[in-house]
Amino acid sequence: MIKHITLSLLLSATTAFAAPALIPQPTEINQLQGALELSSGSTIAYADADAKPVAELLAQQLRGATGYTLPLNAGSTGRIVFKTSADSTLGAEGYELTSKDSVTITAPTTAGLFYGAQTLRQLLPPEIYSSEPTSTTWTIPAVDIRDTPRFAWRGLHLDVGRHFMPKEDVLKFIDTMSSLKFNTLHWHLTEDQGWRIEIKKYPKLTEIGAWRDSTVIGHIRDNRKKPNYDGVPHGGFYTQDDIREIVAYAADRQITIVPEIDMPGHMQAAIAAYPELGCTGEPVEVRKIWGISQTILNPEDSTVQFCKDVLTEVMELFPSEFIHIGGDEAKKNQWESSPRIQELREQRGLKDMHEMQSWFIKQMDDFLVENGRRLIGWDEIAEGGLAQNAAVMWWRGKAGRAGAAIAKKAAQDGHDIVIASNSHLYFDYYQAKDKKAEPLAIGNYLPLDKVYSFDPIIEGLTEAEAERILGAQGQLWREYMPTTESVEYMAFPRACALAELVWLPEEQKNYTHFLERMAVQQARFDAAGVNYRKIEQ
Ligand code: ACM
Repeated sequence: MIKHITLSLLLSATTAFAAPALIPQPTEINQLQGALELSSGSTIAYADADAKPVAELLAQQLRGATGYTLPLNAGSTGRIVFKTSADSTLGAEGYELTSKDSVTITAPTTAGLFYGAQTLRQLLPPEIYSSEPTSTTWTIPAVDIRDTPRFAWRGLHLDVGRHFMPKEDVLKFIDTMSSLKFNTLHWHLTEDQGWRIEIKKYPKLTEIGAWRDSTVIGHIRDNRKKPNYDGVPHGGFYTQDDIREIVAYAADRQITIVPEIDMPGHMQAAIAAYPELGCTGEPVEVRKIWGISQTILNPEDSTVQFCKDVLTEVMELFPSEFIHIGGDEAKKNQWESSPRIQELREQRGLKDMHEMQSWFIKQMDDFLVENGRRLIGWDEIAEGGLAQNAAVMWWRGKAGRAGAAIAKKAAQDGHDIVIASNSHLYFDYYQAKDKKAEPLAIGNYLPLDKVYSFDPIIEGLTEAEAERILGAQGQLWREYMPTTESVEYMAFPRACALAELVWLPEEQKNYTHFLERMAVQQARFDAAGVNYRKIEQ
């Protein structure tokens, strides 16, 4: 007995000094004296129906590492208590967490309760992220937290077109994202190099478009003239059942999946499957080299109908308000040199092929709006005039570059903007100056501190215009990330910096403190089996 008391006193004395290492840092946190312990009999209670799924999910998330099947209990009595409260000052995603003799998490929404649960997991020792039982004492320090995010769009983009990612790995990626309180997965599902989503009306999109014979070896820059290929077939796709499962799994973790069907460029895999969608009548293959393809959809009414048919099935699968239609890097050479497409341009009263692209995008905008959805596209969609309801994803970063002016004007004209700037948020760039010491990447250099320093608000906007900025996301373009391990290496820790900058007000960010907390986050990744890049000391 005496031994037991000594141990618990010791425990509270040591835990009182260890500041919780939370990523992202909560907006308000007070550390209190003491700690409590989770044991096999600790009950998780839910005071109302909205809180029940969060309590159930937390019990499941704690099971692997603790080995405990924690009892669930309707009501307000338990070691951990979830409660929906009508506190409007917490917004759509905020929560309060108090831990002392027990842990109480209150929030006006299920999303807020879920974020409270993720904070609670981070208050536990890092081993809690293990899927296998470990012999750890599961202490929770006493704290008082009140926490709300800065931005409503906190995202990561994932390209599965260049390289396929198996379903189980997408689910793991969603788990990692949601533990950092991201709420949006922008899923880039189609590319020149592979079509990854089953469309019932057009089976050849996956029968043909999901597979390539071979992939270029090494960096495209060194291979453009005389490429070497690996001779290894690559491919894969998600069935509609797979997608329903992934969407539901993400929704349980408060993540909205925004699907992208990139058009009218980046469509070579679709044109390989259905050559009548192209401009030249010549057959093309699913692309096996990187870089921008000249192959582009023709803008015939029949092709517009094909895109609407695809989007119809996409909307059935994805409840997201926003549907991403790409619009980036659409080379217009094949349009320019086609007498038929020049004729179409004149018939439609369009000045140039930028206006033709805008016409095309406007057909999609009208169609999505008719179906109660909203269009979002890369910033090029604004080059020939922006459809009224469209939101813009700004990627061509840095003030002074084309994309920046477009994003600024779009915000001033009242369009919503998501910041995906390649100056600070392209996680396919190198993480070290010494590129030879790193895995092959697309180029450029984007270290962790540069990501952390980023403020998504574009300079020179009024307060009302700045309100149009929904948030920001990190890009994982996968030409040089063939495996899930390589995706994790490029995503983490940079996505941790992003998670914090989209959550915490700019004036509260502190890079030194972030790095201290990242030491613990790395231990969490170790426990979870996430292949992050270690931060140099
Ligand atoms: C892009 O990087 N092409 C959006």
